[in-house]
Amino acid sequence: MILLTGVTGKTGGETAQQLLQKGARLRALVRDESKAADLKAAGVELVVGDVSDADTVQRALKGAEKAFLTLPNGQHQLEQEKQFTDLAVAAGVKHLVKMSSMEAVAHAETPIPRAHWAAEEYIRASGLAWTMIKPNFFMQNLLASAAGIRTNRRFSLPMGNGTTGMADIRDIGAVCAEVLTGPGPAGKGHAGQSYEITGPEVLTFHAVAERFTAVLGAKVEYVPMPMDQFRARMTGVLEPWHLNAVCELFREIAETGLEHTTDTFKRLIGREPTSVTQFIQDHMTLLK
Ligand SMILES: NC(=O)c1ccc[n+]([C@@H]2O[C@H](COP(=O)([O-])OP(=O)(O)OC[C@H]3O[C@@H](n4cnc5c(N)ncnc54)[C@H](OP(=O)(O)O)[C@@H]3O)[C@@H](O)[C@H]2O)c1
Repeated sequence: MILLTGVTGKTGGETAQQLLQKGARLRALVRDESKAADLKAAGVELVVGDVSDADTVQRALKGAEKAFLTLPNGQHQLEQEKQFTDLAVAAGVKHLVKMSSMEAVAHAETPIPRAHWAAEEYIRASGLAWTMIKPNFFMQNLLASAAGIRTNRRFSLPMGNGTTGMADIRDIGAVCAEVLTGPGPAGKGHAGQSYEITGPEVLTFHAVAERFTAVLGAKVEYVPMPMDQFRARMTGVLEPWHLNAVCELFREIAETGLEHTTDTFKRLIGREPTSVTQFIQDHMTLLK
């Protein structure tokens, strides 16, 4: 039995779907049962409640051999993940797989990667077998700009000329499903591994706009947004801690960016990762 969090979100949802295709026995901790009706119909056992609530997490973890922890960024993410880890140890879970991020490194300077790194360190010290899933920027983040691309043929983000090696969440879900069920390199499992996941290319957002232009057959432009404008636009949409943390992360992408891709996806799954061009082709109904 594998216990999953976040199945009504992006990475948890993809991971659940791909685990179901592998025939895995799943339980999911969800806040809103109605959002997980399809998964329930597909045989996923649901435990309803909030991850902050220790009783809920205890019920969810009972009898689980493995757990997959993905939570959205927020002020309380680190304490939620620490509590989840303690309860996983107490429940006798054998292997904890955590969604982290590629920016989460020992010297991380911004709040979200710092919190992920602190949670990783806590898990590594817990005695549990662990695997860290560390993706770069999600391609699916581009869909937040779909309406602007469709109607004005432009999108605007505060990433300047920064680079990402953006990855498709379908590929990330495939890696998570492999980590939770597969034999691992040389049949030794995936415990003790940190998997950095990128797509196949390092691209600026101007280069991403060129990919949109090529696939849509009409000029699409990326217009860098000043950070102050982004902050003003998102005030009230994200709570203050989260907004500040996202601005700092995006500033880091704009100033530093990513220099290299990784071969994690190909090594574990055995095919090339999804390209931005393929991603756009797969989402034409939203973008054309
Ligand atoms: N976005 C990126 O480019 C990127 C890149 C690398 C790593 N990451 C990492 O990926 C993680 C986010 O993953 P995601 O995009 O899959 O998240 P997401 O789509 O926002 O989904 C979050 C999930 O967590 C559930 N959830 C939220 N608060 C909860 C609570 N208090 N108790 C129980 N469940 C709760 C949500 O349930 P509801 O449906 O009830 O809200 C939802 O299922 C973050 O930790 C982030 O740092 C993101």
